[in-house]
Amino acid sequence: MGFLLKRAFFTPLSKIPGPFLNSVSNLPLCYYTVCGNYHTYTISLHAKYGSIVRIGYNQISLANGSELRRVLATHFPKGKVYETNVLPEQTTFTTTNPELNKTRRRQMGNTYSMDNMRTMEDTILEYGVLTLIGCWDAEIEKGAAVNCFCGFSGLAFDIIGVLIYGKSFDVLRLNNMTIIDNIHKLMVLSSIVTILPVLGRFTWLFKDLSAARYQLLNMAHMAIMQRKDNMCEKAVFSPHADILQKLVDARSPGDGQTLSYNTMIAEINMLLAAATDTTSNALSCPAASGLFLRSVPTEGAILCGQYQILSTAEICLSLAASHRDPTVWPNPNVFDPE
Ligand code: HEM
Repeated sequence: MGFLLKRAFFTPLSKIPGPFLNSVSNLPLCYYTVCGNYHTYTISLHAKYGSIVRIGYNQISLANGSELRRVLATHFPKGKVYETNVLPEQTTFTTTNPELNKTRRRQMGNTYSMDNMRTMEDTILEYGVLTLIGCWDAEIEKGAAVNCFCGFSGLAFDIIGVLIYGKSFDVLRLNNMTIIDNIHKLMVLSSIVTILPVLGRFTWLFKDLSAARYQLLNMAHMAIMQRKDNMCEKAVFSPHADILQKLVDARSPGDGQTLSYNTMIAEINMLLAAATDTTSNALSCPAASGLFLRSVPTEGAILCGQYQILSTAEICLSLAASHRDPTVWPNPNVFDPE
C-alpha cells in the first residue's frame, strides 16, 4: 500500500496530471496498446489533461509539438522496447545505442538521399505503380470493385521486394500473400518476446511464428548470396540501383570494413518491416500513430518548462494527439487539406 501511495503522490512524476490508476500502474497503457487502441487512448487523455499526461507509474505521454521535436532531435535515446530479439543483431532502427545508429547511417551513406532515390524511380514505377494500375484496370474492366488498402499494401511489398531482395514478391500480379503473412508473424513473435523476454529461449514453442522467422532470414540469405554471385560473374554484372546493392557495398568510413553477414540479414529484415506497412498505411489512411518510446538521459530532464523527469521514467510520444493539438490546428478533427 505504502509502495502504491509513494508511486502516486511522492515521486517527481506525481505533479503531472492524469488518471489516478495510471499513477500506480502501467496496466491501462498495456491494455490499450495490446488492443491496438493506444492512439485513441492518448488522444482522449491529452484532450482532457493537456499536452503532458501521466500514462503509467513510470511513463508520461507527451503531445506538445516543440517538446516532441526536442525529445526526438536531442539526447533522449530510444526506449529498450525497440531492441529486437528476433533478428541476429540490432539494426539502424532497433538499436538503443546512438553510436551504433550513427555508424550504420554512415555505412549506408547516401542510400536514402534524394539523388539515390531518383536512380530507383524507374524500378519503383515498373514494379509498383504501373503494375498496380494494370491490376486495377483489369478489375474495373471485369466490373469488380478495387480494394485500395490491399492494392497499396501489395504495391509497398512489391517495391521493397525488388529494391531490397532483388526481385518482386509478386503480391500484386499473383496475389502471393506469403511475404505479408510472414512479416506480420515475425512482428507478433517479436511482441511476444518483448512482453515476456523469458520466452525468447522457447521460440520453438510458437511453431508457425518461428517458421515464418526462419523463412524470412533464409530469404535475406538467398538475396545476399545471389547478389554476391552476380557480382563475381563480372562479365554479366552491372551494378543494380537498389538498396540491396547499397548494403552489399556499404563500408565503414574509417577502416573500409564491409557489413557483416548477420548485420546485412538483420538490416534487410528490419527494412522489410519498416518500409511496407508504413507506406501502405500512409497511402490508404494518412494518420500518424504508433508507440514512440524514448528514455530519459541519466541527468534527467525538465519537460514543458516545469516538470522534472528522472532517468528512470520513459516518455511516450503521442504523434496522434500532437496532430490534434487545438492550439496549433483550429479544427483538429476535421480533414482539411487546404
Ligand atoms: C510513409 C512511409 C513511412 C513512414 C510513415 C515512416 C515512419 C517512420 C518513423 C516515424 C520513424 C521513426 C521511428 C522512431 O524513431 O520511433 C522511421 C524510422 C525509420 N524508417 Fe521509416 N517510414 C516510412 C517509410 C520508410 C521506408 C520506405 C524506409 C526504407 C526503405 C524506411 C526506413 C526507416 C529506417 C531505416 C528508420 C530508422 C531511422 C533511424 O532510427 O536512424 N521508412 N520511419
